[in-house]
Amino acid sequence: MKIVRTIDALKKDVHQMKSSHAAIGFVPTMGFLHEGHLTLAHRAKKENDQVIMSIFVNPLQFGPNEDFERYPRNEERDAQLAEEAGVDVLFLPSVEEMYPSEPAVTLTVQKRTNALCGLSRTGHFDGVATVVMKLFHLTEADRAYFGKKDAQQLAVIHGLVESLNVPIAIQGVDTVRESDGLAKSSRNVYLLPDEREKAPALYQSLQQTKQLIEGGETRTSFLKEQAADFLTAKSGAKLEYVDILTYPELEPIEFVSGSVILAAAVKYKNARLIDNIILT
Ligand code: PAJ
Repeated sequence: MKIVRTIDALKKDVHQMKSSHAAIGFVPTMGFLHEGHLTLAHRAKKENDQVIMSIFVNPLQFGPNEDFERYPRNEERDAQLAEEAGVDVLFLPSVEEMYPSEPAVTLTVQKRTNALCGLSRTGHFDGVATVVMKLFHLTEADRAYFGKKDAQQLAVIHGLVESLNVPIAIQGVDTVRESDGLAKSSRNVYLLPDEREKAPALYQSLQQTKQLIEGGETRTSFLKEQAADFLTAKSGAKLEYVDILTYPELEPIEFVSGSVILAAAVKYKNARLIDNIILT
């Protein structure tokens, strides 16, 4: 595996891949890799000739009171894991390399952000869309891999590619979980021991909601109330939201029908956790 830190070096590798007509799979990440990220890399390896992974903690997508400075980082371990997962080129740019000066143009997401995390994380998805668009241009990938764990992000990226006619196929990958159901996340390391014990309640609340829907319940207000009560009683965290929306448009609905997302977010002392189930 090759590690490149500059845009020039990345472009040279991409040029070589392109001249040998290799299909390029791209996995954008912020590092502190876990099995969720590695599953994206494995899938990319299976479906492409070459895999590029980026590790870049993108300041544009963090709010002023968020965890940009203390976002967990471990470059050496990440490089080893990426290599084992079959990554061919690991792109590790600095903030100065990606943003040498304040960008003259950034993207603003118009739809799919007026709900869920978009409500509390103002500008977050604009920052995601901007960096992802830059990375798509730099990697010239044929396919890019995103986790369904961040379902709103995946919906925004689909919107980005459709709206701006980006010639890349977006592949959504199922959420990878711990054995007790907690979705793997780089931020799980922030959980205190008693919080970690209670955190599986997040996924349990969504599973229960799913079961109620499968049992015939369709009233979203009732379903949300049930899930909120469960989370308040069992998660030991502050409930940020629980919602049921159309997917991928993320519009409110009174009754469950068609493709919907059940999504929740809770706040522990140092960690904000999100999870979702998409029903089709
Ligand atoms: P990051 O949080 O590092 O996640 C990178 C990718 O891994 C995302 O597509 C995310 O959905 C996926 N992922 C994380 N946990 C997962 C899990 N448990 N199962 C499956 N996939 C999982 O998302 C970002 O970085 C950034 O916003 C980024 C897209 C890189 C732009 O900066």
